[in-house]
Amino acid sequence: MVRPRRSGLSSVYDRGVTNADLELDPTTLAARFPAGFAWGFAASAYQIEGAAAEDGRGPSVWDTFARVPGAIADGQTGDVACDHYHRFREDVALMAGLGAKAYRFSVSWSRVQPGGAGAVNEPGLAFYDRLVDALLEAGIQPLANLFHWDLPQTLQDRGGFAHPQVVDRFADYASLVASRLGDRVSDWMTFNEPAVYAFLGHADGIHAPGLRDWPTALRVADNELRAHAAAGAAIRSLVTGARIGISIDVNHVAPATGSDADRRAAAQWSSARDAWFLDPLFGRGYPALGLEAHRAAGHLEGVELSEPPAGNLDYLGLNYYRRDAVRARSDRAFDWEIGPRPGTEQTQMDWEVAPAGLRDVLLALNAEYAPREIVITENGAAYPDVVDPDGRVRDDRRVAYLARHVAAAAEALAAGAPLTGYHVWSLLDNFEWSLGYSRRFGLVHVDFATQRRTLKDSAAWYGRLIAATR
Ligand code: FCB
Repeated sequence: MVRPRRSGLSSVYDRGVTNADLELDPTTLAARFPAGFAWGFAASAYQIEGAAAEDGRGPSVWDTFARVPGAIADGQTGDVACDHYHRFREDVALMAGLGAKAYRFSVSWSRVQPGGAGAVNEPGLAFYDRLVDALLEAGIQPLANLFHWDLPQTLQDRGGFAHPQVVDRFADYASLVASRLGDRVSDWMTFNEPAVYAFLGHADGIHAPGLRDWPTALRVADNELRAHAAAGAAIRSLVTGARIGISIDVNHVAPATGSDADRRAAAQWSSARDAWFLDPLFGRGYPALGLEAHRAAGHLEGVELSEPPAGNLDYLGLNYYRRDAVRARSDRAFDWEIGPRPGTEQTQMDWEVAPAGLRDVLLALNAEYAPREIVITENGAAYPDVVDPDGRVRDDRRVAYLARHVAAAAEALAAGAPLTGYHVWSLLDNFEWSLGYSRRFGLVHVDFATQRRTLKDSAAWYGRLIAATR
C-alpha cells in the first residue's frame, strides 16, 4: 500500500506513551520552571458570566442553541451560569489568593456589540473595563480572548462564519475591544479552538449553531483563519506592544493499533483537523494529506479554497486534554472511530489521560513549526467532585492529573520547547457546553443553587505550585 508522507505532527507520535513520573510535590515541580513563568487560569464568557439578557447584551448562537430541545443535557443554559458578571470581584480575589499570574478570559461579542456590527453596547464594554482593572489591581495579567464560540445571533442569521463578510465584522469587533482595553491589555487571543467551532458546530451539529454540513464547516474554518489575520493586524495597529496568539486544540492523535489502516487514518485525521489550522497559520497553506482526506470524503464539494494569510503569531496557544486513538472502520477517509482506548485511565469526559502526550505534542509543535513561544492555554480534567461534610473537596485525581501534565510540560521545556505559560481549565466549575453543568472542571467548586464557591484541594495544590515558582 502507499504510505502517506510521514510529515506533520503525526510523525512524532510513535514514541509510545509512558506516563510522566507521578511527582505530586509542587515545590519539586516548580523548580523545573523559570522565574516569571505565567501560571494562570482560563475561562470563557458564556460558560461563566450569566446575565444573559442584562445591560443590553444580545443573544449569541449559544443562547439560541441552548434552547433547542435535546441539545443540552437536562435542558440547561448559560443564562445564569456562575453569575460571574456580578461576582467577578470575588472570582478575581480567589485567583489572587492562589497567586495567579495571568487570567485568560473571553469577551462576549454579543455583550459589547449585540448586532455584530455597528452600535457598541457601552455597559457591556464597561464590564470588561471593570474586570481588567480588577485583575491589574490584583497583580494578574489579563489575556483577552475575542472568540470563544458565542457569535452574535444576528450575524448567524446572515450566514455566520460561513459568510466571508464575517472577516471584516470580526476585525471591526477586535478594533472596538482593543481601542477600549488596549491601554491595559497587551496579551490577545483571536480564537479559541477554531476547529471545534467549525467542525462540532457546523459538521457534527453538537455545538452551536448546530449545523451538519461539511462544506459549510470548511468555509467556516477558512473564514476563521482570515478573521484571525485581519483581527491580529487591527489589534497591532491600535495597541503598541500587542502580543497576538490563537488557541489550537491539539490532542495526542495516535493510531489505535499498529495496522497500516489505523496509521494512515491517524495521519489523515491529524492533518485534516490539526494541521488544517496550524499549517496555514504558519504560512504553508492547507496540508496536502488533509486536503486529500477532505476531498475524498466529499467535504470540499462546492468549496473554493485559496491560501489563507499566515498567522503572524507572537505565541501559539495549545489546549491539551487527552489521547485520541484513531481506528479505521474501512479504507474510506473519515470512516474512523476516534476516542479513548478501552481499559485506559479516563476522566469523567471519557477522555484518556495521557500526560506524556502533552510533552510529545509540545515537542512536535516546536519541531514542525518553530513558534516564537508556546503557551498552554488550557489543560484540566472533569471529575464528579463533592463537597464533603467538613467543607473540603478532595479531588485527588485532579491533583494527579495536573501534576503529571505539569511534569510533562517541564520535560518539554527542558527539551527546548519555548513554553512560557500554563493556564489551567478552569477556575470555576461551569457550563460545559452540550453537557450542561454535569461536568466539573473547576479548581473551585460551584454550588449552582447558591453560587457558593469552595476551593478544592487542587486549588490549594496549584497555589503552592505558583508560590514555589520564583
Ligand atoms: C475546551 C473548551 C473549553 C472547555 C474545555 C473542557 O475544548 O475550549 O471551553 O469546554 O474544552
